Amino acid sequence: MSTEAESSFTMADKGADKRSRNEHIKEASRQLRGTIADGLAAQATGALSEHDQQLVKFHGTYLQDDRDLRGERAKKKLEKAFSFMVRVRIPGGVVTPAQWLALDRIAGDFANGTLRLTTRQTFQFHGVIKSNMRRTMQAINDSLLDTLAACGDVNRNVLAASNPHVSPAHAEALDLARRLSAHLLPRTGAYHEIWLDGEKITDTSGDSSEGEEPLYGRHYLPRKFKAVVAVPPDNDVDIFAQDLGFIAIIKGGKLAGWNVTVGGGMGMTHGESDTFPRTADVLGFCLPEQAVDIAEKILTVQRDWGNRENRKRARLKYTIEDRGLSAFRAEVEKRLGYKLEPQRPYRFARTGDSLGWTKGAKARWHLGLFVENGRIVDRPGHTLRTALREIAKLHRGEMICTANQNVIIADVSAPGKRRIEDILRANGIEIATTSGLRRNSMACVALPTCGLALAESERYLPSLVTRLEEVLADVGLTDEDIVIRMTGCPNGCARPYLAEIGLVGRGPGTYNLYLGAAFDGSRLSKLYAQDVHEREILALLTPLLVRFAAERQEGERFGDFAIRAGTIAATHNGREFHENVRLATAE
Ligand code: HEM
Ligand code: SF4
Repeated sequence: MSTEAESSFTMADKGADKRSRNEHIKEASRQLRGTIADGLAAQATGALSEHDQQLVKFHGTYLQDDRDLRGERAKKKLEKAFSFMVRVRIPGGVVTPAQWLALDRIAGDFANGTLRLTTRQTFQFHGVIKSNMRRTMQAINDSLLDTLAACGDVNRNVLAASNPHVSPAHAEALDLARRLSAHLLPRTGAYHEIWLDGEKITDTSGDSSEGEEPLYGRHYLPRKFKAVVAVPPDNDVDIFAQDLGFIAIIKGGKLAGWNVTVGGGMGMTHGESDTFPRTADVLGFCLPEQAVDIAEKILTVQRDWGNRENRKRARLKYTIEDRGLSAFRAEVEKRLGYKLEPQRPYRFARTGDSLGWTKGAKARWHLGLFVENGRIVDRPGHTLRTALREIAKLHRGEMICTANQNVIIADVSAPGKRRIEDILRANGIEIATTSGLRRNSMACVALPTCGLALAESERYLPSLVTRLEEVLADVGLTDEDIVIRMTGCPNGCARPYLAEIGLVGRGPGTYNLYLGAAFDGSRLSKLYAQDVHEREILALLTPLLVRFAAERQEGERFGDFAIRAGTIAATHNGREFHENVRLATAE
């Protein structure tokens, strides 16, 4: 599909212009329109053009194909089994029961009958075919939600400490997440035009004007940008993994302001040591009313300073590594016209969720329900999707996706609590989890839908955890909270480099094993063993868990123990991630 937009890219590309291919695609896209509308109408293929595949990400969707079917379809000379993954934008992960019911209906009508809670506090649909895409987007819009900026080189879904009912600061965190999301949203009319009513909202002939995107301009950001709001002692949003974060500082029961964090990120490329995960730094402290403006200025410095030649080094974490935190802070302060205050003390305790029932103010109850790898699906004897649908039909409070892929049913009365328990029991759903390891486990989607997966993740982690549970039971650690996370490739969607046990796919059935991250999310792990299969993973972890049970100090966490015991060197910052690696081999 050749268009004016694409040919202008080819011409620009021939010059001395070193900018990455995606920069040209964005520039020529007429503010994210590209030829998406034509591509959706083309019936000969289930796919979109290569350039449009990049652009639809900004609209919250990825083109994928079912990798389980690739071989069979190739033999029959059929094109790949294309479909779309659609990701909703839900700042703070909070939806009403009516919205839950709408999303559940969409999963059945247009997707593969499952809802996937993600590590960014939102829902994904898988398996939406092209001819259903507009109807899916419209149904999402009818439920007063959208998918704009859920993927792409923009500010993504903003996370907030999981339950706004826990304290006034939690409610402020959600409010800030919503304001950040709204303020940093692209302004292009393309979304409305392509997915909703088909009408052109602005004149898009020729070059589009900068005016349409006051914050992002024609090139948007060099790469994705992720923002979160945390309320200590819970670090359930994994703040140190994010480009931008706000930590609530509470004084006398009231929000005094926020510590601002910058420059965290997970992704790296195997074999390229100048790419690495990085934990964020604290930039300083700000007052509540300054937060949105500060977020805007940080985003614009990254817009102007970020690397636009090499996408593998384009995240804010590399801008800060390359320019230094002081220079970055000085530029942000210059744009603000005032200085940030020095950071204030804070303490995080854990990254996990409060699972089970907790009693809040005014005799209201909250249920944190573990959802294995975020997949909401009906299985024989375990009909979770039905259970949550039935709960949504009677529930009056909120339903919240957590950044750990779990769900919170918030603001429940005592009679409501009993009815929810009845529904869960009738559908075979236990509130208790089988172990502390499982309740702290997360896996990214990986196969069969993710085109980047090198190994299984969501479909495999549960059975590996079962094997590890046997070891834990033998040494009396069944109830011990240990964070384990797996991804199918080094991009790190389930934040494996901040897990006490991290597994990152290398190839079919093989993983790199990382150890030594902090339980509170503040310290990265380090590579412990390379290219290991399940047998080796168990052989390597068993003696460590046996030693941990025998030698741990009072309250000591597995990640900290691995460092104290000399199993792994501590990683204090991203630059050290690839240093002092001593690879272990299984006997
Ligand atoms: C180069 C870097 C990355 C690329 C190209 C990438 C791409 C993708 C793709 C294609 C999917 C869809 C998989 C599917 O649903 O079938 C996905 C899922 C997801 N990614 Fe990434 N990703 C990257 C890094 C990250 C990082 C660092 C994070 C967060 C720290 C992240 C967060 C997510 C989340 C929340 C999902 C939804 C599924 C889940 O919860 O596992 N991604 N990513
Ligand atoms: S970590 Fe890799 S395999 Fe897993 S969803 Fe992200 S991109 Fe896909």
